[in-house]
Amino acid sequence: MSRSVVDKISELRARRKAVVLAHNYQPPEVQDLADFCGDSLGLSVQASRTQAEVIVFCGVRFMAETAAILCPDKVVLLPDPEAGCPMADMITAAQLRQLKAQHPGAIVVCYVNSTAEVKAESDTCCTSANAVDLVRSLPKDRQIVFVPDQNLGQYTAEQTGRDLVLWPGYCRSHVLITEDDIRAAKARYPDAVVMVHPECTEAVRGLADQVLSTGQMLRFVRQSKAKRFIVGTEIGILHALNKENPDAQYIPASDRAVCPNMKRITLDKVLWALEDMQVQVTIPKDIAAQARKSLQRMTEVVPSYAKG
Ligand code: 13P
Ligand code: SF4
Repeated sequence: MSRSVVDKISELRARRKAVVLAHNYQPPEVQDLADFCGDSLGLSVQASRTQAEVIVFCGVRFMAETAAILCPDKVVLLPDPEAGCPMADMITAAQLRQLKAQHPGAIVVCYVNSTAEVKAESDTCCTSANAVDLVRSLPKDRQIVFVPDQNLGQYTAEQTGRDLVLWPGYCRSHVLITEDDIRAAKARYPDAVVMVHPECTEAVRGLADQVLSTGQMLRFVRQSKAKRFIVGTEIGILHALNKENPDAQYIPASDRAVCPNMKRITLDKVLWALEDMQVQVTIPKDIAAQARKSLQRMTEVVPSYAKG
């Protein structure tokens, strides 16, 4: 890591009155540089509270869009405009409108991994950390449509006993983790606790001891007496786990569980973003106003660890 790039970022960050937010899947050097690291929910809460004038979002586009929607008076920078989330693009606003027409009167819950337009068409957003609590809080007599992640949706349906209408979206990185991966890791480390993300398939979740968002994994490990964990999520989390609790051992369920979009962010790109104040993420006012309502509902159902 070049010290001069880090120094230049620090100097510019102060001059621009900027805060750097990084998701738990970011490359280690980006996590180390950030003012706050966290899961999608924790980062949304940090964005909505910050006094900074500029937010440099080290994550993928939907995360930066969420910050821009929650903070209309701030400049939100995404250091690589190509950093998208393929799952977020698996449903369009037009497709959601069609689905709503097929289920009139249903409450629409959209995973925060979605476009601003899809959020604007939804009644409420959720993240992997609060989907279960959020769905539990909805009226029992209403049908619920859940988009776009079928795996988080299925998990939420199992946990709440609610019959959700699902959309066939999925995360390309998480579905690479297989049952065989978990079985092999368990055979090798029989004493390890298996934690997986709810974006994993049903079969993988079925072999896990814990199904957790990335922020919940960090909290779980902090409170656990176990010394070994098999980790079924994107491998960027291993840096955060090792940093927070270096005494335990973390075994990635699969080395293939990499999100290439998360890895697009580099220190050089963070520096360029602050130098040029590019690329600014903006959302048309009418869409932002609608999407904000869905996001505000999401940030009302926040477990204490994510409040920071
Ligand atoms: P978390 O909110 O659990 O960090 O997950 C975000 C994500 O994109 C998972 O793939
Ligand atoms: Fe999207 Fe999957 Fe990457 Fe998360 S890990 S940002 S869901 S592609």
